Amino acid sequence: MASVLLQHVSKQFGSSNYAVHDVNLDIEDKEFLVLLGPSGCGKTTTLRMVAGLEEVSEGRIVIGGQDVTNVPPKDRDIAMVFQNYALYPHMTVYENMSFGLKLRKMPKTEIDKRVKEAAEILGLSPYLARRPKELSGGQRQRVALGRAIVREPKAFLMDEPLSNLDAKLRTQTRVELKRLHQRLGATIIYVTHDQTEAMTMGTRIVVMRDGVVQQVDTPDGIYHRPANQFVGTFVGTPAMNLLSAELSRQGTEFIAHLGDQTLSLPTQLTGPLESLIEPQVTLGVRPEDVHLVRADASDSLKAVVRLVEAMGHEQLVYLSLGSRDIVARTDNDWTGKSGDAVGITFDMARLHLFDPVSEESLLR
Ligand SMILES: Nc1ncnc2c1ncn2[C@@H]1O[C@H](COP(=O)(O)OP(=O)(O)O)[C@@H](O)[C@H]1O
Ligand SMILES: [Mg+2]
Repeated sequence: MASVLLQHVSKQFGSSNYAVHDVNLDIEDKEFLVLLGPSGCGKTTTLRMVAGLEEVSEGRIVIGGQDVTNVPPKDRDIAMVFQNYALYPHMTVYENMSFGLKLRKMPKTEIDKRVKEAAEILGLSPYLARRPKELSGGQRQRVALGRAIVREPKAFLMDEPLSNLDAKLRTQTRVELKRLHQRLGATIIYVTHDQTEAMTMGTRIVVMRDGVVQQVDTPDGIYHRPANQFVGTFVGTPAMNLLSAELSRQGTEFIAHLGDQTLSLPTQLTGPLESLIEPQVTLGVRPEDVHLVRADASDSLKAVVRLVEAMGHEQLVYLSLGSRDIVARTDNDWTGKSGDAVGITFDMARLHLFDPVSEESLLR
């Protein structure tokens, strides 16, 4: 396995805007790096440039210490797994997995050893003689993975490999992939638009938007210390609440005005707020950091319940806070209903603050 380095990598198709712009990534050996972002943000293009299937317009790609920017795909020693894992329908599982090695003229005994090992790892040993149509969707996806594993490449590149599977199988395969990563000690670059896949599998996550990297961080860092409003709201369901507020000062304290209600901000936020020129700020509060209390509780904001969604293990409570909408996540035994007047408080240690113009976090 090997490290993968992208230096100032950009891609422009024809004379259109940049599909990928100035991407810098230092992917360590054995890392499971996830590229996350909405459709069209440049994830596939980035992966295809690493594979050599797409030429870079600018920049450099280094795999395992070797500059491969101008090396053809077949000589880069990487394996790709796509969403559409086209298996050869007339070949058995064994033949599908061994086909690439045969083309490379690898000795039969070595091919046999690798295919059987991969089949064992993937739980495919009983199915080696079957053809793709005699397999479930999940088993077919594992054959596609097997085909990549037997090559023992320097790195695996995976482009939304689970998106054709149904929800249950996707969860199951997600766990399997993570285990596979631990077992192979492989370098994996994994593309997805699914935040759950990114959060559960990635050792680090790269959040992209319009071809530009927004943040590279651990799942924990992405969730708890988002670099900007886009990252803050892209990860987390329901999305982080955003509340525009106006600030005023009372002595050493900052007060946020939300309509005619006020909220004193904790003193640890004073530093970042000092640098603000305009008094406007956007508060970011995740639904689990909004707490429901009695309507007359002191130091609470006054809100009205609009809708309650029971989710089984928790409830989502949609509220009006003056003219602002806000959603709270609460446990099962909360018994309010729509129309109720309630108080809400925020977990102030987990409050996010964004510049309303640049949308950058003020806390970094
Ligand atoms: N071959 C191509 N020719 C022109 N534009 C392309 C081509 N491939 C991708 N694009 C454009 O590049 C941008 C990024 O696409 P892509 O990397 O496929 O995004 P993602 O995988 O994140 O959905 C999109 O605007 C897309 O339309
Ligand atoms: Mg894509």
